[in-house]
Amino acid sequence: MTLWERMQTLAAEGSAPFHMPGHKRNAALLRDLLGGATLPYGLDFTELPGLDNLQAPVDSLRDLTARAAEIWDSEACFLSVGGSSAGLLAAVRTCALRAAPGAEILVARNCHLAVWRAVEICGLRPVILEPARTGLLGLCGSLPPETLARALGTDGAKQTFAAVAVTSPTYEGVCSDISALAALTRRAGVPLLVDEAHGAHLSPASRIAPEMFPPGALSGGADIVVQSLHKTLPALTQTALIHARGVLSDGGELARQAAFFQGTSPSYLLLGSIDLCLTLLERHGRTLFSRWADRLAQVAAAAGTWRKLRWLEDFHSDRGVFALDPGKLLMDAGSLGLTGPALAERLRAGGIEPEYASPAAVLLMTSCCDREEDVARLLAVVDDLDHAVRAPLPPPDFADLPPLPPAELPPGEAVRWARRRLPLQKAVGELSAAYLWAYPPGVPLLLPGQRVPPELPAWAEERAAAGCPVQGLEEGLLSVLQ
Ligand SMILES: Cc1ncc(COP(=O)(O)O)c(C=O)c1O
Repeated sequence: MTLWERMQTLAAEGSAPFHMPGHKRNAALLRDLLGGATLPYGLDFTELPGLDNLQAPVDSLRDLTARAAEIWDSEACFLSVGGSSAGLLAAVRTCALRAAPGAEILVARNCHLAVWRAVEICGLRPVILEPARTGLLGLCGSLPPETLARALGTDGAKQTFAAVAVTSPTYEGVCSDISALAALTRRAGVPLLVDEAHGAHLSPASRIAPEMFPPGALSGGADIVVQSLHKTLPALTQTALIHARGVLSDGGELARQAAFFQGTSPSYLLLGSIDLCLTLLERHGRTLFSRWADRLAQVAAAAGTWRKLRWLEDFHSDRGVFALDPGKLLMDAGSLGLTGPALAERLRAGGIEPEYASPAAVLLMTSCCDREEDVARLLAVVDDLDHAVRAPLPPPDFADLPPLPPAELPPGEAVRWARRRLPLQKAVGELSAAYLWAYPPGVPLLLPGQRVPPELPAWAEERAAAGCPVQGLEEGLLSVLQ
C-alpha cells in the first residue's frame, strides 16, 4: 500500500484518535463552529503505525522516495515538507560538512535567498559567479560554463570549494547548460548543487516531449538537485524533493540534514500530496505532459502571429540564454505600450491572474494541469492587447548591476557583530550587516561582511525612481557593523 492508501484506510477505520493532532480529525465539530468552513482535517495524521516517520523512514515514506528516485533517475531521494528552502539548507550543509570549516563555495549570484542563508548558517565563504544577462530588464541569463571554468581554476589548490551552487531553471525559466557545468565540477572534484525549484517537471516532461522541454539537471550530471514539487507539478505548497547522485548518493549525511531542517511533526497532508503527485506522474504522466506540450505549441503558434508583444523567447538566442522552459511565459509589457502592473491589470480584467508583475514585465506560469479553456482565454486576451493601438514604451533605463564587493568577513561571521543603522549614503565604506537585494533580476547587491561601495547609493536611488527600490533596508536604513 502506498502512503496515501494507508492514510485513506486509517481514515475509513475511524478509530478514536487519542493522539495528535489536537483537532482529532473532528471535521464536523469544526465545520459547525466555524460556520461551514472546513479543511481536510480527516486526513491530517501523525506518525501512526503504517505511516512511517519522516525523520527515519523505513516503510511507506521510504517507498515514496524510491518511487521519486525512479521517476527522476536519482540514486537517493529525500522528501521535504519545508519546500526547496529546507532542501537547499540541507544540501548546502551536507556539502559544507565534506569540506574544511569556513571553506569557499562558488555561488551563482542569482541563487535564491535559501542558498545565501545556508552559506551564512554553514559559515562558508561565498565566491560569486555572475550569470549572463538577458536583454529583457537585465534579467539573469544562464551561467556561462567559461565563468565556472575560470573560477574553478586549473590548479589543484583551488579545488577545495565546498560546492558549486547554481539555479536552473530560474523563476523566469532560464536554464543553464548543466552537462557542461557538471563536466567541469566533476573534473575539479567539487559537488554541483542545482536549485531546480522551478524545474521538477523538466525530467519527466522532457522524456515524454523532448522537442518541447529541455532536460532536467539530474540527466545533466548534477550531484545534488533540489526541486519544489508544488511550483510546477500537481502537489501541495511546501512539498519538495532533494535528489543525490554520485559522490553524495550514499545519502547518509544528506538524510540526516534533510531531517534537521524540517519539523519533527511533518504534515501528512503534504506527504500524502507527494504520493498523489507521483501516482499522477506514474499513471498519467504521458497524457498530462503531451497535452501540456500541445497547449504550449498552441501558445507558440499564437506568439508567431503577435505583432508587438515580445516575450523572453525573443531574447533567447543572442543574450546569454542556453535554454528556456517553455512553461514560463515572460511578457515584455513595454512592447505592448504598458507598464508591467498595467499589463497585469488588463490581464486580470480579462480573467487571467499572472504570477508576478515587475515594472516592465509580467510572468505567467503554465502547468500540466491548465484547463484548455483557460489557455484559450489567455490567448484571446493577449491577442486583443497585441492589436490595441498603443505606442511601445521605451525599456526602463536600468543601469548595469554594480558588482558585488569582495567579502571582508564571511556572512556567518559578520552577523555575529553588534550593529547600527545608517542611511545608505552615510553607510558608504562601512561593512554591511544585511543582505541588500535588487529585484529584478533577483540578485544580492550586498552580503553581510561586504563594504558598501561608493556608487551604491546613487544606483539605489535610480532604481527606486524606476519603481524598483532595493530591498533589505530597514525603515530606509542599512544595518552595518559597529
Ligand atoms: C529559484 C528558487 N529556489 C528556491 C525557492 C524556494 O522554494 P520553496 O518556496 O519551495 O521553499 C524559490 C522560491 O521562490 C525559487 O524561486
